[in-house]
Formats: sequence, structure tokens, C-alpha cells
Amino acid sequence: MGETLLFSAQVVCWQKEHGRSHLPWQQTRDPYRVWLSEVMLQQTQVSTVLDYYPRFLARFPHVAALADASEDEVLALWSGLGYYSRARNLHRCAQQVVALHEGAFPATAVVLQTLPGIGRSTAGAIAAFCFSERVPILDANVRRVLTRFLGFDTDLSVVANERALWERAIHLLPHSHLPESMPRYTQGLMDLGAMVCLARKPLCAQCPVQLQCVARQEGVPENYPVKTRKLTRQSQAWWLLLLRDVAGRVHLERRPSTGIWPGLHCLPMYAARADIPVQYAFRIRELPPFLHTLTHRDLHLHPVLVEVNEQQPFNDEGAWFCSVQWSSLGLPAPIRKLLESVR
Ligand code: ADE
Repeated sequence: MGETLLFSAQVVCWQKEHGRSHLPWQQTRDPYRVWLSEVMLQQTQVSTVLDYYPRFLARFPHVAALADASEDEVLALWSGLGYYSRARNLHRCAQQVVALHEGAFPATAVVLQTLPGIGRSTAGAIAAFCFSERVPILDANVRRVLTRFLGFDTDLSVVANERALWERAIHLLPHSHLPESMPRYTQGLMDLGAMVCLARKPLCAQCPVQLQCVARQEGVPENYPVKTRKLTRQSQAWWLLLLRDVAGRVHLERRPSTGIWPGLHCLPMYAARADIPVQYAFRIRELPPFLHTLTHRDLHLHPVLVEVNEQQPFNDEGAWFCSVQWSSLGLPAPIRKLLESVR
């Protein structure tokens, strides 16, 4: 018990001295602002979020403003952050906070978890940061810190083991001065994971808990966390039809609600070059192919610029958009870049 008490105290002290304290979402306990930052940070680097976060807040300063927006506008502001299901859940979550919780975010992790896009770790972060609730977080960075410290060596792709790690995380939480220690401890674990307990080259000499860390004693901290289920990366090639008329309008379709870029506007995609319809074209030009990496897939994208004299009755799926119109649509970032490059 003594050692586990020491752990939280050391993390809290270290955070005060060496952790991050000037990130914009650390200057508030407003759950709307903290929630927004946590959802943005789920799969995106801090440097990118620093750019999007103030813009998003300027347009949606409170939860009711976000709930009232159209999904297309939310997706457009999200464009470039990727993982668009997050943006859709964000919008739905705002609507539920307004409809079911009178516009105020719930103050406990258990209730926060009932909202779309808020998993156990995000709920824990919001509850600890805003309400100093004594609850753990366990995102990928923190999982690394805790498995190493504890020498937790069972396979985390097994649900029962993952659950056991959550239990160990509860036991490590601070016991006293919770109003100050819970936010500090939570941020401290995140900071250790991001700045010291790195996946490949951990900086153990800078770590406040190096003396009690089991992985450090064993000599190879990189062995943690243990996860046997490997993601096998797939590679796919797609041809993109950039159909443009002489006035510069382009043809875009909405992606289906499942698969790549669900629900976003996009160029029509084809599995083979030969499938691209070219019957009305006065000019066809292959554009430089580019790689787009998704979590489990490498997409090799081959755009083909097909120029036509006037808007052809191409199909019923999509519509034609001038550049002012497509600029404000929810577009996947690489597609936006491509359209900008030929504007
Ligand atoms: N990643 C997830 N949440 C974070 C936070 N509050 N600060 C920095 N990085 C984070």
C-alpha cells in the first residue's frame, strides 16, 4: 500500500514541476471545453488540436451552439482531424446534453459514459479534471505508464486482463486533497506518457517513479504493454474521378455511412482505372498518386482529372459544386488538398 500511495504523490509532485500547464484546455474546468479537447485529443496530436480547438470554440462557444448546428457544418470544421465518427458523436453528444441533461454535462464518470463518443477513459478525464472525481483514466499513453510501473504483463487484448488493469489503476489513485490532486494526477499520467514513458525510447532517468518501476528493474521497459493481437495492415489502391466542367465545378458524392470517410463528400472512387467513365471527356489527365494512411489500411489513391464541357448527367448519386461551395463542405483532408491543387 505504501508504494502505491507514493506513486500518486510522486506523479502529482512531478506534474507540478515538470508537466504541461499552459495548454488552453488546462485553463478551465468548464466540462464543455474539457470534453471538446479530450475528444479532439483521442486520436490527434496536441499540436494539431492547438490549431483546431480555438476555431471550434469560436464558432461553438457553448454546448447549445454546437447542438443547434447542422451536421455538415460540424464536419466541415472538423475536416482534417480525421476519424469523422468522432465529429458525428460530438454533435450527437451535444444534442443529448441539451435534450437529456438540461444543457449541463453530467458530473460523474458513470453518467458521462452514457453519452455518444465518451468511453470510460474520456469520461474519467472529464470527471477528474472538472469535478475532481476519484476515477482513473486508461488511454494508450497511460496504459503504457501503468503496465510498466506495475510490471503488468498479461495480454491486454484479453478483456478480463484489460479489466484487471482498470482495477489496478483505481488502486493507484490519490487518497487525499482530491480537489487539487485528481486533476494534477490525471494530467501527470498523461504528461508522463507523452513526455517521459515513451513507446520506443523511454526516458527513465527523468521519471519520478523510476525506482519502483518494475519494467525498469527488469531492464526492457519497451516490453510493455503486452498485446498479442497484432493489427495486420492492408494495402488498397483506389482511383478517384475528379470530374470537372469548364466553369471549374466538380462532381462530388456523399460517401456511404460505413467504410472509408463515412458520410463525407468525396470524389467518386473506383477499384480499377478501367472503371472510370470517360465518355464525355474532352481531356483526361492522370494526377500524381498519393498515399493516405488509415488506422488499419494504406490507401494508394490515383486521381484522374476528367474535363467535360458542361455538367453531364453523370449519375444520380452526387452533385456539382463550385469552389465556394465545396470549400465549406465536410471533405476528407486529402481530397480537399487535391481539389485545392487543381483549382
Ligand atoms: N491527451 C489526452 N488528453 C490530454 C490532455 N488533457 N492534455 C494533453 N494531452 C492529452
